[in-house]
Amino acid sequence: VRSVLLDSELNADALNYWLQEALEVHDGASKGKYTIGLGQDCMAFCSEVEDVISMSLTVVKSLLEKYHIDPKLIGRLEVGSETVIDKSKSIKTWLMQIFEESGNTDIEGVDSSNACYGGTAALLNCVNWVESRCWDGRYGLVVCTDSAVYAEGPARPTGGAAAIAMLIGPNAPISFESKYRASHMAHVYDFYKPDLASEYPVVDGKLSQTCYLMALDSCYRQYCAKYEKLVGEQFSISDADYCVFHSPYNKLVQKSFARLYFNDFMRNCSSVDNDAKEKLQPFANLTSEESYQSRDLEKGSQQLAKHLYDIKVQPSTLLPKQIGNMYTASLYAALASVIYNKHASLTGQRIVMFSYGSGLTSTMFSFKLNEGQHPFNLANIASVLDVTAKLESRHVTSPEKFIDTLKLMEHRYGAKDFETSKDISLLPPGTFYLTKVDSMYRRFYEKK
Ligand code: ACO
Repeated sequence: VRSVLLDSELNADALNYWLQEALEVHDGASKGKYTIGLGQDCMAFCSEVEDVISMSLTVVKSLLEKYHIDPKLIGRLEVGSETVIDKSKSIKTWLMQIFEESGNTDIEGVDSSNACYGGTAALLNCVNWVESRCWDGRYGLVVCTDSAVYAEGPARPTGGAAAIAMLIGPNAPISFESKYRASHMAHVYDFYKPDLASEYPVVDGKLSQTCYLMALDSCYRQYCAKYEKLVGEQFSISDADYCVFHSPYNKLVQKSFARLYFNDFMRNCSSVDNDAKEKLQPFANLTSEESYQSRDLEKGSQQLAKHLYDIKVQPSTLLPKQIGNMYTASLYAALASVIYNKHASLTGQRIVMFSYGSGLTSTMFSFKLNEGQHPFNLANIASVLDVTAKLESRHVTSPEKFIDTLKLMEHRYGAKDFETSKDISLLPPGTFYLTKVDSMYRRFYEKK
């Protein structure tokens, strides 16, 4: 059995968004800090009628409808999320409503959570199931759903919200290279959510950046070693047609690719030309700790890798720059961006993926692409994703409206006995929305 990622369906359309430029003005930040400094264009957020459950109901229903999949054909459903609505009841159980209607309750899987990594854990679970002796021939379905909101301060412009659904089964166009998977897991306090009364994380922003890059280095070294052992040839970024990163904000993605380039330099790979080797030579003897702190290395390697970044990374940045950090959905929205932008030329190509979740958990893995068969061919997946139309149909709101919504959500977080405005005028048809939470904390959703 060849395990594969068949398809993805994205829900970004039902969300409000505001422009980072407007927020710079609102926050009194210097011009360019969020747009150039963080590299972000826009940021999406859930209105008071949407949440991680409504978004995941929307994407699952939409995927099944658009690909004409009988709900009975789903045998495993895994959800990745770090947005806690209930400490016991999984988001997966809410999604079961869609399958119960068709009489299918024989579906394994629950939620996985560890910061932005839960989606990858869910995906690996599904892929392992399809590859295992327990597989009964049905599809796996993975849902990544998160709303990323931060307390007032420098992290606030790095929020976002989205849900992604992915269908897993054999003989599909996006196939796992399972043998080269490499992970780095450790105990750190870089970003965590210890306050159960608040939706906001506690975050040490600078530490989280360094942890991310350290985890990237470690995964890349292990990935290369596994590849080299099996294939007998050196691996470098030349062997990756696209590099797709978990994207909290675009600047970190630029730094990450530069870091892979520096790794290739240290391993004397042919992906780094002689001129670049000369320029990087002064950094060759830094300890790894020093290398994370060196601003000259960071800026220099970014410049030297820029021509490769434009080819191998830029196509993945469309949705993350437009939506912001989607936590578990971020990496897969970046993958969807590559499929959407490059579907016509992906056959035979390799996409290297890097998943990071604070705390910390991280994995690097790769996909090989082939054309696939209708409806699961790359061109059709790109057309179903319909990214441009979805982005264009969003509604711009002001930073003030965003802050008001956050205040309301702070009040409602963990609350019972309230009704929402049920204002669905901005939601596209087919979107699920929250109507009320009753006196027993039970949540009720409707579909527009
Ligand atoms: N024009 C252009 N660039 C500017 C401007 C300006 N006017 N002002 C600042 N900048 C640049 C800075 O030089 C810096 O760029 P550099 O890193 O290339 O030097 C960048 O903008 C950010 O500015 P800082 O002052 O360094 O950082 P800030 O205090 O704004 O915080 C941070 C940024 C740490 C990312 C914060 O937003 C945060 O904590 N976010 C949440 C944590 C996070 O996302 N971590 C990532 C991994 S973990 C996860 O996914 C949750």
